[in-house]
Amino acid sequence: MGFEQRYLTYKRRVDTFLQGLVRSAQPSSLYTPARYVLDGGGKRVRSVLVLVACKSVGGNLLDALPASAAVEVLHNFTLVHDDIMDNASSRRGRPTVHTRWDNNVAILTGDAMVALAYRALLETRSSRVRDLTRLFTEGLLVVCEGQAYDKEFETNRTVRVRDYLSMIEKKTGRMIAVAAELGAVVGKATPNQQRALRTYGALIGRAFQVQDDLLDVTADEAEFGKRIGGDLVEGKKTYLLLRALERARGEDRKMLLRVYRKEGVTFRDVPRYQAIFERTGAIDAAREHIDRDIRSAQRALRSLRASEDRDMLEWFADLLRARTF
Ligand code: IPE
Ligand code: IPE
Ligand code: MG
Ligand code: MG
Ligand code: MG
Repeated sequence: MGFEQRYLTYKRRVDTFLQGLVRSAQPSSLYTPARYVLDGGGKRVRSVLVLVACKSVGGNLLDALPASAAVEVLHNFTLVHDDIMDNASSRRGRPTVHTRWDNNVAILTGDAMVALAYRALLETRSSRVRDLTRLFTEGLLVVCEGQAYDKEFETNRTVRVRDYLSMIEKKTGRMIAVAAELGAVVGKATPNQQRALRTYGALIGRAFQVQDDLLDVTADEAEFGKRIGGDLVEGKKTYLLLRALERARGEDRKMLLRVYRKEGVTFRDVPRYQAIFERTGAIDAAREHIDRDIRSAQRALRSLRASEDRDMLEWFADLLRARTF
């Protein structure tokens, strides 16, 4: 079986597990949106990573399935609340929960999803459930810190690329690192293997967010499933914006500084920003950054024993680099 086929098989396993996780239908104002989110597709990047990481250290895929679903549900929870925080109207090509229902529904659905995530995690058969729970809990706290910085940065004029990288390591990198590490722990990894997988996860996770920022202005909207240019309209400090600001002069610079003003940018302005990002080399810089992180992540895998699963992790990093949604 090729890696792509294997990825699809793992993804289906996760999806089936997720379907069994929401066991009630009432109150429907809670469970209908919860199902809406969990049935809504998604690449299942983090959950598949848990499974492959587990196998790469000699563990059993089935043992890792509950932890894998747990990470996916937690990720989906962060998206529901993130969409409120980012005023985002669409995700995965559909209205976001707070748009389709309202903010109160989205807040509560998110809360319930945290509980569902822990429910799944606690179903893991492992002698190290306490370690798994600690990793998961600390990871969630760090994601919240990252999300707090993301919001704080909107109104901060002194943010540099260095600050940005630290913010995305928290809001996105950590959950992906946790995914890899949970898989390692379930698979009874040695401390060295566990460390290698954590490093790998953190690096592909960081690349993943730079890529997300890039896709926010360069992707095809229908394929991406989210509105193009949302980061600009919301005044986000993205990789592109910060790199472009380092280089832009004159009119371009003035345009970029409008992102710092609340309501300074509308969706109609987005093509102009795309041109500035091209012109200033910010797009190229983002691609180079992604490539560097992906290569470092792949290097971190070298301390694992050679196996098909290790090769799959290497392939997986390349897959993420090439993604268009
Ligand atoms: C979106 O995550 C949020 C980011 C961290 C960029 P994904 O791109 O993994 O979203 P889904 O789960 O596939 O929809
Ligand atoms: C989201 O980053 C990170 C988390 C959900 C924790 P973004 O805000 O860039 O994600 P999207 O673009 O809405 O998916
Ligand atoms: Mg956000
Ligand atoms: Mg968002
Ligand atoms: Mg984004």
